[in-house]
Formats: sequence, C-alpha cells, structure tokens
Amino acid sequence: MSIPQVSRILQQMARLESMEHARRVQLLAGRRIALLFYESSTRTRTSFELAAKQLGATTTLVSDKSSSIEKGESLKDTGLTLRALGAECIILRHAASGAPSLLARMTGLPVLNAGDGMHQHPSQALLDLRTMLTRLGRSAVHVTESSLSGVTVVITGDILHSRVARSNAMLLPRLGAKVLLCGPEPLLPQEALGLYPGCGPAIEIVRSLDEALERAATSEAAVAMMLRIQRERLAGLELDLGEYVTRYQLHAERLERRAPHALVMHPGPMIRGLEIASEMADGPSSAIEDQVRHGLAIRSALLLRALSTTDFESVTV
Ligand code: CP
Repeated sequence: MSIPQVSRILQQMARLESMEHARRVQLLAGRRIALLFYESSTRTRTSFELAAKQLGATTTLVSDKSSSIEKGESLKDTGLTLRALGAECIILRHAASGAPSLLARMTGLPVLNAGDGMHQHPSQALLDLRTMLTRLGRSAVHVTESSLSGVTVVITGDILHSRVARSNAMLLPRLGAKVLLCGPEPLLPQEALGLYPGCGPAIEIVRSLDEALERAATSEAAVAMMLRIQRERLAGLELDLGEYVTRYQLHAERLERRAPHALVMHPGPMIRGLEIASEMADGPSSAIEDQVRHGLAIRSALLLRALSTTDFESVTV
C-alpha cells in the first residue's frame, strides 16, 4: 500500500465515524461478507463482524472448529462454497502465510487478510498507526513520509513468530519512525533485519530492553509495543520464561526508570505477568484499549474499500 492509499483509508475512517448511523448502515446494505477463521481470534474477528454490521452488511462466520473444515475440506473448496452461497468478500485468518492471496486468486473475491501465519496482519498495523498518531497528537487523517518523524517504536518480544511485528516494521519506517526490534536471539534472529529490505537504518536490533527504552526516551516520542510469546508457534524452541520476564517484561519500575513518557501498546491477547505487568496494561500510559477501539474504524474502512461501488480513492475529509 502506498502512503497516499494509507492516508485515504485514514480519511475514510474519519468520514465514517462522523457519519450518521442511518446513512452509514446503507453503505453495504444487503451485501454478504464471510468471516473464515482457521485460528482463534477475539479482537480481529469481532471488530470485522461489528464493522460489517454497522455498514449494513450480512455476515456469516465459518470457523475451523465447527465446520466441514474439520472433515478435511480444503481452503479452495471452502472458499468456492462461500462464493456459491453469495459471499462477496471473505475475511480470512489462516495459519499458512500467503493463504489470503491464494484464496483471492482461487475465488476471484476480495479477501481481507485477518492474519496469515507468521507473515502479515495488515489491519493491525493500520490500527496501531492510528492509535499512535492520535495518542501522540499528530494528524490521524493525512499521513506523509514525516508523520512519525522523531518517534521511536520499541517492538519487544516474539518477533520471529509475529505477523504484527512484521506489518508494523514494514509500515512505520515509511512514515518516518525509527523501529527498534528487541528480544533474545531465539525470538529475534539477526537475520530478521533482512525481512525489511529498503528500511535501512530505520530498523535496528537492540538486545536489551533497558537500552532500547533509554534510546527511545531520547527521541521526541517513544512507544513501547509489547508482544505475546506465541507458545503455539514455538515448535521446540527452548525459552527460559523466568529469564525472559527478568530481561524483557515491561513493568512500572522499568518504564519509569528508562522511558517514563513512553506510550504502551500491545496488539493482544496479552499474557499479564509475562511480557507485560498488569500495572502497565491498566495504567495511564496504556493505549491498549484505544488499539481495540480503532480496530472497528479501520476495519469498516477496509470493508468499504473492498466492496464499495463508488470511488473509494476519491474520498476527502
Ligand atoms: N491482535 C489480534 O489479532 O488479536 P486477536 O487474535 O484476538 O484477533
């Protein structure tokens, strides 16, 4: 996505939020949207569903746990079945990287990526962007290459398995942010830098969370984005959780000492007491509930973009 395209999505979000309910509910009235989830989700699934409903669309949920997927039906056949039943758009979460683009090719339908394996979670990166812009007092309607200049974002934790880290690391530097990736070698191999070609010195690996926070604190604005350890994807990786907590948990004493003004973010689900202490998750620096709230707005704009018959790109606010 180009920066002007990101900007137009942000504009569309603002436009939808200021629109009267009666008008908004007409925008996708009568349209059919299928939510196809092969992995568990609370935030992404619920916000896409509520977003579709507030635009007037009809939704149906197909989950791997209660459908013919359990009997061995393929992604292709499930997609073609949904299309035959009238689905005009599919929102897909899948454990395999690239599954959304495969499904789009096989069905010819717009497919929105709700998280694919360890690859991408694009709507999460967009809602994280809007949360940052809003909380840091920057324009959340028009973005440019300098919208996040002077902002250092420390992304800490299970970077290796994180589609959230990948999508954010591909988006934020293009808007001027510095990204420090932080974590132990098993969760953040040095090769991770090769995943973000073109970002150059805008992305760095810093092994110590204390050092990364201190560096962020010297910039105009600091963001501490914490990630969950994805036990379901560790696949034999040995990790000493006690040591991890000591070195990488975000707690009040650490933040107060290293980066007292940092904004605290977490895409969820959080494991309180592991990567983040409760006092951080619930404290005044936390933007975690804002992230969830912005999810509804961003997913409304993305659905409209996918299904709109009018010229989405020409929207202005
Ligand atoms: N952030 C996120 O993707 O959360 P869910 O797994 O609950 O959707």
